[in-house]
Amino acid sequence: MLQGHYVCHFLAIFSNQGRSELDRLPGRTDLNMSRDACISILAASPVPMLLIGRDDRVIAANSGARALLGSGAESRHYVTFLRQPAVLDAIEAVLAGRLDRAEADYLASQAMRETTFRVTAAKVVLETGPAALITFVDTTDLQEAGQIRRDFVANVSHELKTPLTAVLGFIETLRGAARDDPAARDRFLGIMEKEASRMNRLVRDLLSLSRVESQQRLRPGTPADAAAILRAVMTTLRPLVEEAGAKVTLTGAEAAADVPGDTDQLSQVFANLIENAVKYGRKGVSVEVQLLRSEHEPAIRGPAVIVHVSDDGPGIDTVHIPRLTERFYRVDDHRSRELGGTGLGLAIVKHIVNRHRGRLRIDSVPGEGSRFTVILPVR
Ligand SMILES: Nc1ncnc2c1ncn2[C@@H]1O[C@H](COP(=O)(O)OP(=O)(O)OP(=O)(O)O)[C@@H](O)[C@H]1O
Ligand SMILES: [Mg+2]
Repeated sequence: MLQGHYVCHFLAIFSNQGRSELDRLPGRTDLNMSRDACISILAASPVPMLLIGRDDRVIAANSGARALLGSGAESRHYVTFLRQPAVLDAIEAVLAGRLDRAEADYLASQAMRETTFRVTAAKVVLETGPAALITFVDTTDLQEAGQIRRDFVANVSHELKTPLTAVLGFIETLRGAARDDPAARDRFLGIMEKEASRMNRLVRDLLSLSRVESQQRLRPGTPADAAAILRAVMTTLRPLVEEAGAKVTLTGAEAAADVPGDTDQLSQVFANLIENAVKYGRKGVSVEVQLLRSEHEPAIRGPAVIVHVSDDGPGIDTVHIPRLTERFYRVDDHRSRELGGTGLGLAIVKHIVNRHRGRLRIDSVPGEGSRFTVILPVR
């Protein structure tokens, strides 16, 4: 029973709820635990932990701490292997009895990756006297998520700033110098319309991306006919294809090809891939859209509907391929912008395909063309 009490006291240090547990033990300054019990709790914890005695030497390190800091920490002076000043200060403050608890960030590099740990030094009372328990909580993912969010906001602002500046500039010109010049007015209104449509497209794509992201875990349950979707997309894109002088053929889409899917979202996927092939191919590019059915597709370990969109355009250099599905990533920034691209198309495609538990593959040979493949599970 008493042993149980020690454990409570000990574990209390790890959490804030735990603190109130400590607070509910007024006057129990006699609570202390054996070194062995303490070491066995450390060994049971998945979180890297160190126990450091008043003599500044490590009493115990669990396997997580050994993996992080290297083996052989035991009985060494902590300063010899924890060299980061903020961490040393936190430990020193607790060992010297100035604070019961102190925190700092510890930067490490594991498996070629920079990682960040939130280090907490907290006072513990052992039979042999006070000591400091050091825990390392990996906060790398949290920090990365924060960075991604900041980059995203910066990108969106940057993308909106250019067309907005143009529109504001033309409004000023129309009010002043071009006030009585009908020809200039028409031309400027035309440019303003183009810039406003660009902002409109950007906002629409952002909304669409956030909608698909929020549905990511929700797999579509209703059947969608990939063949009918492809035929409809071909019709919708006909004006764009004609304008570009491109040639697009569709094969394999005569009979129905049902998959559990969201018709609107799958239309968006195929429209984006065909549109890209037409937009980024050279003049008169030829695009082949093929629908295939497979009884057993290894990539998804089951029956699948496969759609290839291949073009004989300029192709994409290998270095860009892994990054194409990142938001706002464009190979030729200038050319893509000229063509009205927001760089969100393939990010949306990737999310929709993921939501359908499918696969997106990109193969390309520079100078010969590109092939985008969507694999959709039938069950
Ligand atoms: N078939 C292709 N051939 C050559 N480059 C391509 C092809 N498809 C895509 N790309 C490159 O990939 C980039 C990203 O495409 P994505 O569809 O994500 O954005 P976008 O077309 O620029 O904008 P949006 O689709 O939002 O209008 C394009 O800017 C282009 O550089
Ligand atoms: Mg696109």
